[in-house]
Amino acid sequence: MSPSRCGAAVSILPALLLLLSPASAFYLPGVAPTSYRDGDKVPLNVNHLTPAESERDPQVRSVFSFDYYLPEFHFCQPPEGTKYEYESLGSILFGDRIQNSPFELKMGINESCKAVCGKQTFPPEDSKFVNRRIFQDYNINWLVDGLPAGQLKKDTITEEVYESPGFPLGTIIDDLPVLNNHYDIFIDYHEFSQDKHRVVGVTVQSSSSADAKEIGDGVALCGEGTPLSLSESGDTDVVFTYSVYWNPSPTPFATRWDKYLHVYDPRIHWFSLINSAVIVCFLVGMVTTILFRTLRKDIARYNRLDAVALEDLSGTGIMDDGVQEDSGWKLVHGDVFRPPRSPMLLSVLVGNGAQLFMMTGFTIVFALLGFLSPSNRGSLATMMIIFHTLFGFIGGYISARVYKFFHGEAWKQNFIYTPMALPCLVFGAFFLLNLFVWARHASGAVPFTTMLVLISLWFVISVPLSLAGSWLGFKAKGIHEPTRTNQIPRQIPQASSYMRPIPSMLLVGVLPFGAIFVELYFIMRSIWFSKFYYMFGFLFVCFGIMIMTCAAVTVLMVYFLLCAENYHWQWRSFFTAGASAFYVFLYAMLYWVKTLSFTSWTSGVLYLGYSLLISTLFFVLTGTIGFLATWMFILKIYGAIKVD
Ligand SMILES: *[C@@H]1O[C@H](CO)[C@@H](O)[C@H](O)[C@H]1NC(C)=O
Repeated sequence: MSPSRCGAAVSILPALLLLLSPASAFYLPGVAPTSYRDGDKVPLNVNHLTPAESERDPQVRSVFSFDYYLPEFHFCQPPEGTKYEYESLGSILFGDRIQNSPFELKMGINESCKAVCGKQTFPPEDSKFVNRRIFQDYNINWLVDGLPAGQLKKDTITEEVYESPGFPLGTIIDDLPVLNNHYDIFIDYHEFSQDKHRVVGVTVQSSSSADAKEIGDGVALCGEGTPLSLSESGDTDVVFTYSVYWNPSPTPFATRWDKYLHVYDPRIHWFSLINSAVIVCFLVGMVTTILFRTLRKDIARYNRLDAVALEDLSGTGIMDDGVQEDSGWKLVHGDVFRPPRSPMLLSVLVGNGAQLFMMTGFTIVFALLGFLSPSNRGSLATMMIIFHTLFGFIGGYISARVYKFFHGEAWKQNFIYTPMALPCLVFGAFFLLNLFVWARHASGAVPFTTMLVLISLWFVISVPLSLAGSWLGFKAKGIHEPTRTNQIPRQIPQASSYMRPIPSMLLVGVLPFGAIFVELYFIMRSIWFSKFYYMFGFLFVCFGIMIMTCAAVTVLMVYFLLCAENYHWQWRSFFTAGASAFYVFLYAMLYWVKTLSFTSWTSGVLYLGYSLLISTLFFVLTGTIGFLATWMFILKIYGAIKVD
């Protein structure tokens, strides 16, 4: 890209982003609205309890979530017994455990102070357990008509009011944990037509009262005043009570999710995006101009030298061109297509990376187009699984093409390893980490049937597709190598300090990371603080910027490498771009130090494990981008010179 074109692109970018920015809260309604008549029962479902950001300081103290009906909590169960609601694959994988509840909400009918069930007695062990959860700021998550019950909060920067899902299990008053046993449920409904009311907003305020009493048949006395704290030395009696308030609202059903999809601090996104866009544009422009100028000069010189050499043969005398003998990247033309060490591993990694790349790209585009409605819980994860399954084909194909290019012989292994590598890694890590979840009696252990569905999706669809792709790649004509490879490998001269593997990778890897780190912050926040992430407009642009950065910096690095007469570009390009994953991991650790303060080592293990897993996936993704870009570049430049 020339500098002027780059300038144009920079000025177009904000306009483009303006278009994208409203799209960040755009979605197609995923679920058909349910209408209720006055007095109809509106379902209230309960989900798992999740750790939340504390009110005292912005810290998260645990990563486990707990089943709502865990006996230690003593929450009232519905008289007809608990039952799981139907959920999507992604929703289950991401930990949702939605069940029915004994709460009775009747459309349009206010109720004050009802007992959920009879008196519950907390023995000291359970009190200890619940008090610990209160100290860790656990949130209760309810769904009313599919809409999460939350609390209204005000953005400290934009002053915008938004709804944050979940409400606290308890509070800390004077260093003493206090259990919230009364819930004020405020429901907004929209009168679509006479007798057709729809739920469009749910907030819950939980409070604590030691004086609440049940006086028979669901009626209670809700005390004011003294908060209820669970004794860790003796039994404590608790009555759970609730009130319901219905308020008409002008919000239509179609936009009922808008309050939840709040863009935290849009200025930061804008600032970082424009910032990184300018840097990237500058970088890509610089790389391409440098490369094209030098390359053109190099190529012209090489080809002229050839011509001079020919004339020389015909006896004109000394070469007086003022040029030295060949130098730079042309010297390694006889080695640059020499297969790298472990060609199998590299081709399998690139195949898997290509599959990941397609999955990520397609998921982001789908989300951007509004197909992933927030009301379809877990649709993002479901989409990712489906795309990953389908793009097994691409994975197999690319892996086979790369392997063929490396003159690989062990085809059977390549066919088998490609569909196995990443899924096995992810599955293994998932399984190991789940052991900790089980050990803690936390929820989140994936049910057997879900496991079965996942495995069959992989084995019945993904593996055959990958094999088909591999077969096509194997059958396809090999990629033409522009120069012949010498029999004897060339000596590689000593590299200067900054070209040594580790410093060069660390130096270059920081750039792709720079393109994504602000978005990464919000993604981490949504993962560990259980918040909605709905800024796909920003994510889309970030993803594009990251791809360009990865490609540009890796190509530049490899050009320098070849000029230093080092022809081991294959692994180097993979690792150079992949080095940004190291920064992602570092960032995760920094995030831990700054915003997470776990009170148990198992939380730490889980966090570390998932950070490692995510960084590894990111490594494969960016490494693949770097490798593929470099591969194209090498084929191009060596195709342009004449070698006899
Ligand atoms: C229900 O309670 C709310 C809030 O107190 C009030 O605004 C509304 O008018 C009440 N509705 C009925 C039907 O009494």
